[in-house]
Parts: sequence; structure tokens; C-alpha cells
Amino acid sequence: MSPSCEGEQTQGPPFCGGLFLSPNDSIYVFEKRSRFSFLKRGATLDLMSVIQAWFPTYIYFKKLQTKGLTAFNRELLTECYQIRDYDFAGQKWSKKNYPGGYTSYQSIPNIYQLSSTMVELREKIDRHVRAYAKHLQFDLKERTLSMTDCWINIMPTQAVHSLHLHPLSTISGTYYVRTPKNCSSIKFEDPRLSKFMAAPPRCAEVRPENRSFVHYKAEVGHVVLFESWLRHEVGANPAASDRVSISFNYNWF
Ligand SMILES: [Fe+2]
Repeated sequence: MSPSCEGEQTQGPPFCGGLFLSPNDSIYVFEKRSRFSFLKRGATLDLMSVIQAWFPTYIYFKKLQTKGLTAFNRELLTECYQIRDYDFAGQKWSKKNYPGGYTSYQSIPNIYQLSSTMVELREKIDRHVRAYAKHLQFDLKERTLSMTDCWINIMPTQAVHSLHLHPLSTISGTYYVRTPKNCSSIKFEDPRLSKFMAAPPRCAEVRPENRSFVHYKAEVGHVVLFESWLRHEVGANPAASDRVSISFNYNWF
């Protein structure tokens, strides 16, 4: 039997043989590099003892708070449109760089300082970022992670946010203010994708952790956090109305 797309192959040290795992997790052993000699068959394999996952990519997704979100989001939504309406520079920039949509990314990247509502949002997000950073086990050298940029994204029907990352930042994320039914999800890309070289494509029934892309549904009142180097995009918004979010960066220096 040769390794197939349904199984997994691990590589042993040179000249020491290796393992092939069949679809039913039976184990096949070969002794020599050039000749497959299957010595055992049917043994139940304890995958955890043989294969370990390293270098995980963590994505945080949680509701901003358990109570009072409806009124808070209403205030945020009103302010998002108010800011858009007087941000002529942002409208002009968006027309060229964010077709069909509006973002204050270039014109007002500090909306977290603009009003008491936005300050409150920043304080709430701070708590989530602290929890996420704790999980990442950052040693911040007595510094703190602080919000450095925060901007509005309004995506009407068919607006797109193409693949990108957030340079010169540590942690980035988005808070969902308004998410109409069937609006676009946020799609993350495996950060090793550009290094896969000759790796074959994944099976149709690939395990979730082995996928090259993962989608997170945009849910109103939720915050998503990720390390800023993780590439992501938002596809064309198929919803009939605006998808509104507030994105941000945190830095530790
Ligand atoms: Fe982004």
C-alpha cells in the first residue's frame, strides 16, 4: 500500500524508516529508505504519541460583553455614519482605494479618541486584548499593549476588502457593529502558505487544523483578534445592506 491522500505520512530520520498511517489509523512501518516492508498492520495508533502540532496560529473570537450591547452598538453605529459624513478626505480616499465602501483608515485612524463612546469601546477591547496576549504568553518587558490605530469600515453590497496584513503592529482585530444576514465573513490564510513549495493540495475531507483557510462569521457585538502578521480578507459583501465594523491595531512599543 502506498500513502494516499486519505492517510498521513510522517518522515523518520534518514535510513531509519518511517510510518504510513492508513485511513483507519492502522500503522504501516517500513525499514529501509528504498524499500517498503510493511511489518505491522492493524495496530491501533495513538496519534498523539507520534505526531504533535507545533507553531499554532491563535485567533480569538468573543462577544464584547454579555449585557447592554444593543444600546451600545446603536450609539456606535450612529457615530460611524456621522464620522463618515463629515470625513471628506476619507470619502475621497475610499472612492479610489475601497470601491463602493468607506473606511477612515487613511483619514481618521484614531477614532478611539474621538468620543466617549469610542473611548468606552477601546476600554472594552483592551480587556480582550489582555486576555489574548496572556494566552500568547508575550513577555512585554514591563511595557503594555496599547491601541495605536482604530478606524471604521462600512461595506455596502459587493464591497470588498482584499487580502492584507497589518504591518508594524502586534495584535490587530475587528469589532462588528452591524452584520446584516449573510454578510461576508472574515477569511484567514495559513501563514505558511507561501512556504509550502511542493506541498500537494489538501484532501476534501481535511481536518479543520490542516486547512489552508479559515472563515469566521461576522457576528454583531463580537470581537475577533489575531496577530498582525496573519493575512486576511473580506470577500464581496453579498448582503443587501451595509456591513459595519471597527478595526484596530495594538502595539507594545
Ligand atoms: Fe485587516
